[in-house]
Amino acid sequence: MEKYVINGGTPLYGEVSVSGAKNAALAIIPAAILSQDICVIENLPLSISDVRYMIATLRHIGADVRYIDKSSIEIDSRKVSSYVISHDMTKHLRASYYFIGALLGRFGRARVAMPGGCYLGPRPIDQHIKGFEALGAKVSVEDNAIVEASSEKLFGAPVYLDIVSVGATVNIMLAAVKAEGMTVIENAAKEPHIVDLANFLNSMGADIRGAGTDVIKIRGVENLHGCTYSIIPDQIEAGTFMVAAAATKGNLLIKNVIPKHLESISTKLVECGATVEEYDEAIRVSMDTRPGKCNIKTMPHPGFPTDMQPQIAVLLALADGTSLISESIWSNRFRYTEQLIRMGAKINVDGQIAMIHGVEALKGAPVRADDLRAGAAMIIAGLAAQGRTEIEEISHIRRGYENVVEKISNIGGDIRMVYCVDPLDINDAG
Ligand code: EPZ
Repeated sequence: MEKYVINGGTPLYGEVSVSGAKNAALAIIPAAILSQDICVIENLPLSISDVRYMIATLRHIGADVRYIDKSSIEIDSRKVSSYVISHDMTKHLRASYYFIGALLGRFGRARVAMPGGCYLGPRPIDQHIKGFEALGAKVSVEDNAIVEASSEKLFGAPVYLDIVSVGATVNIMLAAVKAEGMTVIENAAKEPHIVDLANFLNSMGADIRGAGTDVIKIRGVENLHGCTYSIIPDQIEAGTFMVAAAATKGNLLIKNVIPKHLESISTKLVECGATVEEYDEAIRVSMDTRPGKCNIKTMPHPGFPTDMQPQIAVLLALADGTSLISESIWSNRFRYTEQLIRMGAKINVDGQIAMIHGVEALKGAPVRADDLRAGAAMIIAGLAAQGRTEIEEISHIRRGYENVVEKISNIGGDIRMVYCVDPLDINDAG
């Protein structure tokens, strides 16, 4: 079993470069199935496990995938012959359900086991199914375990999302891009990775307009050719380092970012008293005082991202005053607060609201990563705390953050990964 050991209390200084966006990669990799040719995708975070599982799934259904370098791959989907993906492949991550839309768009058929991923509360797929059915597909969910979708032919149609859903917006785009006629997705998600997917598909010859707004129009095309495409930087990784710089009273230049994608995070950090300087492809965050309190309400983009909620909570746990966080996307995204309380934080959670009474300092403690972003929050807390923090269940963190130990060590953080033997693994000497 592996864990991170952090000796906190040192401000983060220097420069760090952000990897490609996990949630863009997870939408774009399955989209390559729709091409009749070869796609080269660059700036991928190839060492995170979610991306490696997506590549393994592509190969599982017959695609050839070649690693070009540490962040680029070449995908040849011409030999993809199967539209069936088993639970063994889908259980590792939520985004595996994008193969439903991609296979439906390619073959008019998909049989994909329900996905896994972080437990953040119920994660239904009714809006995905609503979109597929609007395009003319027959969809059934067998034993709540296997999604079967099929259609002789897909026809463009209007789809109104009852709730803003990133996943449903992605999946409907994938199914609609080769359907006959016009599809209009209303109340669509506007996240940067939605725009990135639309740009990728358009570079393959698709006809998608309006991505980044709440109305996306997709005019179906016969065929999609190959392309070479570089994905956007990860705004959540960037935001995680921004908060870490503020929480440790450091001064950090975060490179390979698109500052516009970070506006809600920058605004909140400035509200807390941090200094944020924007450059063309970088952002500098510095802080030399105790953070002030501020209130957060997570919202779909361009609101404050729910995927930054645990991380900002660490800064607010150290703030001068009481802050409120309202989590409007997920019903169970405050579990990490139990771990922060073990480190001396004063937090009361009541349903979708967390009340955070700032303390002067957190103290190192043994904690665990309950999910991907909760794990990121534990790292920030460990770096900001006095003393030693040990973080278990770090596989969650490695799902979404590349080269964590190297990146943090290079900016002054005292972090290392250690292997520890699980007591149950000790052979009974008899
Ligand atoms: C994506 O999840 C991200 N994952 C999540 O990031 C992120 O938290 C979420 O979007 C919101 O931004 C990936 O991109 C792989 P949703 P997704 O569909 O698509 C409800 C991370 O840390 N809903 O936008 O699953 C749903 O229950 C991960 O990188 C329905 O009711 O999220 C939720 O309350 C964690 N019916 C809300 O909509 C549906 O059919 C938003 O979910 C679909 C969703």
